[in-house]
Amino acid sequence: MPFFLTKQSLIWCFTGRIPSFLKGSLLRLGPGLFEIGDEPFYHLFDGQALMHKFDFKNGQVTYHRKFIKTDAYVRAITEKRVVITEFGTFAYPDPCKNIFSRFFSYFKGVEVTDNCLVNVYPIGEDFYAVTETNFITKVNTDTLETLKKVDMCNYVNINGVTAHPHIERDGTVYNIGNCMGKGATLAYNIVKIPPTQKDKSDPIEKSKVVVQFPSAERFKPSYVHSFGMSDNYFVFVETPVKINLLKFLSAWSIRGSNYMDCFESNEAQGVRTRSRIVLLILRAPIGMFHHINTYEDQGFIVVDLCAWKGIEFVYNYLWLANLRANWDEVKKAAMMAPQPEVRRYVIPLDIHKEEQGKNLVSLPYTTATAVMHADGMIWLEPEVLFSGPPFEFPQINYKRFGGKNYSYAYGLGLNHFIPDRICKLNVKTKETWVWQEPDSYPSEPLFVQTPDGVDEDDGVLLTIVVAPGSQRPGYLLILNAKDLSEIARAEVECSMPVTFHGMYKP
Ligand SMILES: [Fe+2]
Repeated sequence: MPFFLTKQSLIWCFTGRIPSFLKGSLLRLGPGLFEIGDEPFYHLFDGQALMHKFDFKNGQVTYHRKFIKTDAYVRAITEKRVVITEFGTFAYPDPCKNIFSRFFSYFKGVEVTDNCLVNVYPIGEDFYAVTETNFITKVNTDTLETLKKVDMCNYVNINGVTAHPHIERDGTVYNIGNCMGKGATLAYNIVKIPPTQKDKSDPIEKSKVVVQFPSAERFKPSYVHSFGMSDNYFVFVETPVKINLLKFLSAWSIRGSNYMDCFESNEAQGVRTRSRIVLLILRAPIGMFHHINTYEDQGFIVVDLCAWKGIEFVYNYLWLANLRANWDEVKKAAMMAPQPEVRRYVIPLDIHKEEQGKNLVSLPYTTATAVMHADGMIWLEPEVLFSGPPFEFPQINYKRFGGKNYSYAYGLGLNHFIPDRICKLNVKTKETWVWQEPDSYPSEPLFVQTPDGVDEDDGVLLTIVVAPGSQRPGYLLILNAKDLSEIARAEVECSMPVTFHGMYKP
């Protein structure tokens, strides 16, 4: 079912009081156009990028949204058909071409999408809407106008970068993606983009690769959605969900292929975690998308993440044919989906061969273990910090505690893929808090710290709540990060599609 959108919608009612320290903008990305002409998009990640913005000023809030004018969007609107292949939707050649030019179109290559529907983050003084390909799109966050498409391949050796970079306090951006490494072997590159330049030049022009390491399988890099970063280390989890390069290349010439066709799960291989020093193997394979936080403590790296048990690629649950069904049917079908849990892995930094067979983790506050086997490999067992309700789309007080020893994580309760609650977790005590209302489906909760805040959780959470299956409009919800009590909500005068990720711009 299409969402009918107006160019701009104002808030039509709100309850509670908007905290006076909120003087910026909540920016979020998600899919907004689910069919074009008579052609549907098939996967939730194919809908065309729609940017949402809630502006806070003088205790008031206004809401705006605009489609990002990507090549994928503009050409689809112009030609009234899917022109660029998306994650789960193949773009067929123009039917108006004669049979010979259509034939050769199959072999000409498929264009990589710039449909930046996943996240938005700053680079220098600019803001970019992003997906997971090599294209990022510069946007004006005041007007939501699209400014420029940037191809990261012009600056670094990379096939694509994640939508979850790490950003240091000075504005330095780190990101990861796969690339063609030495000897025509797939590898991973970590890319560094410096902060704002004194000469006002574009920091992207000074992007460089700071680390490269090979893929476990020569032609099958793992799908990578995020990574961990502490003060001194990057942590990369190489999961069993692989991109089959041969299938990927054939998608360039075989009719009907899309990105989803190129994924496969490798049960035989566990999960490799790489730090600067050692190769570690988790004992059981997991699916993994979002790191929560990574920090160093007493000679160990603590890695908290949201884990999906098993090797199933959970994006298979997000085909739009399923999501377009009656909402009650959607919820019933979703009960088949796996459940994520919060896990803590601990990586020892000081390793001695004579300690083979012993648990190398001596941190007093965790049951996570690391045991070296005879072949020198170190196998990790996690401590489960939270196994119910399900916890995904994690956020923390990133500005103060990103890469640091921390206490609180906030997440979206993704109950068999139905986002039906907001959760808070004390990762030290395992105490939890929940916000939940009937027929209310929130998004990733973004933490905004109170300006004079002392405690780690002095602040608010911002989330957008949608209500599929009912006539109720969507609304912005502001929660007290201490106890998830409601501070204010602001309803918009139209329905809202889901959003994936975003940021608060002060
Ligand atoms: Fe994500």
